[in-house]
Amino acid sequence: MLGTESLRENERCPGAEARLNALFTDPALSARVYGLVGSTNELLKPLARDGAPEGTLLVADRQTAGKGTRGRSFYSPKASGLYLSLLLRPRLTLAEVTLITPLAAVAVAEALSGFGIADARIKWVNDIYLHGRKVCGILAENQLGPVGEDALPTVSSVVLGIGINLVPPEGGFPEEIRAVAGTVFPDALPTPDAAERMAAAIANRFMARYRTLPNTAFLAEYRARSLLTGHDVLLMRPEGPVRVHATGIDDHAGLIVRHPDGHTETITCGDVSVRPADPVH
Ligand code: BTN
Repeated sequence: MLGTESLRENERCPGAEARLNALFTDPALSARVYGLVGSTNELLKPLARDGAPEGTLLVADRQTAGKGTRGRSFYSPKASGLYLSLLLRPRLTLAEVTLITPLAAVAVAEALSGFGIADARIKWVNDIYLHGRKVCGILAENQLGPVGEDALPTVSSVVLGIGINLVPPEGGFPEEIRAVAGTVFPDALPTPDAAERMAAAIANRFMARYRTLPNTAFLAEYRARSLLTGHDVLLMRPEGPVRVHATGIDDHAGLIVRHPDGHTETITCGDVSVRPADPVH
């Protein structure tokens, strides 16, 4: 996909890096492109600790240990998807930093629009769906710094990981995810350089939106694309699933739900896993 097929683990591809760097519109963005890595998020963390600047972007064609949310893995086969991690050093409170994941979801949806795919939906909080199938997942991991004036830890950096399924993998998706996983381009890439252009579009869109934080104007787009709003969902609580009705997204990107007895509750990112109760399209 990125012209990196012959590379060894953690080996960089200067040609692909030069091509990708030429597509960036935000001056902070600087890419390192790999063929094969364990996990771009894990590869970026030591660079973050060693002082790499905001905007450092790792991109890989394949991951052997792709990480998903809640300790799950993220299937990252070769020649199929785009796996990227962006280093951020936000000057934001811990509460404001939680906006980064929904903002990234909006950036991915907008990047897809640039490829003529206007109907991407966002499944709260961090998944992108196309025609009822998940095509992208987002995993933001915070590195905490000293406690700030508000008695909460500061955030020294965020590793923002985005995995996007571009074309079907050789042999199809594994059984466990076959019913849910989908691809942005079900047949083939529209152009040979589409993977690079997609990586650049996501990074450029994200940085443009990120520079407006903690402004939450992006939530209008998030709400317009929200897959769960208006549907029954299951809150996967430790004591068992609870069926509620999703009524909207609040001003902190929380999911507002109504219980059968009529009382409402706002689910905060990371609180609880949420699934559609019935198939939603
Ligand atoms: C999810 O769907 O649960 C989140 C998936 C996040 C996957 C991306 S791929 C690039 C980055 N590196 C990882 O190991 N994970 C994220």
